[in-house]
Amino acid sequence: MPVVKFEREGRSIEVPKGANLRKSALKAGINVYKGINQILNCQGHGLCGTCRVEIIQGDKNVNSKTPMEEWVLKGKFLIAHKVKPNLRLSCQVKVDDDIVVLTMPEYEIDKEETIERVKIFAVVTLFALLFLVGLAFIVLDFIGKL
Ligand code: FES
Repeated sequence: MPVVKFEREGRSIEVPKGANLRKSALKAGINVYKGINQILNCQGHGLCGTCRVEIIQGDKNVNSKTPMEEWVLKGKFLIAHKVKPNLRLSCQVKVDDDIVVLTMPEYEIDKEETIERVKIFAVVTLFALLFLVGLAFIVLDFIGKL
């Protein structure tokens, strides 16, 4: 059976081949969430991005990242994060052989990407406001208030 070593906790557990990393960790009493995310998370559906871990050894001994997982790790909204190749969502990891895992790894903001996202958001918001103002004038004109 594969052995998962949790570096931060100094513990190793044996898991069945193909076991889900998040479920195995939680079952063994090892927390993969920071702070309030212990309660506020997507329960392993790969949507919230709060169960991040770093596979510091044996990253070839787990399944590969899906585009959806990469997208969630990168940050879905305005703030973008830098994603190391071995950064994973523990709920999406299937363990096939021995690995060493770092729970709650550092997570760096990608400033350039975040600035680009904010610029796009500002332009889209501006156009949406212009559209709404134009629509308001049309409606007011239609009902004869102008
Ligand atoms: S628990 Fe939400 S992404 Fe893993």
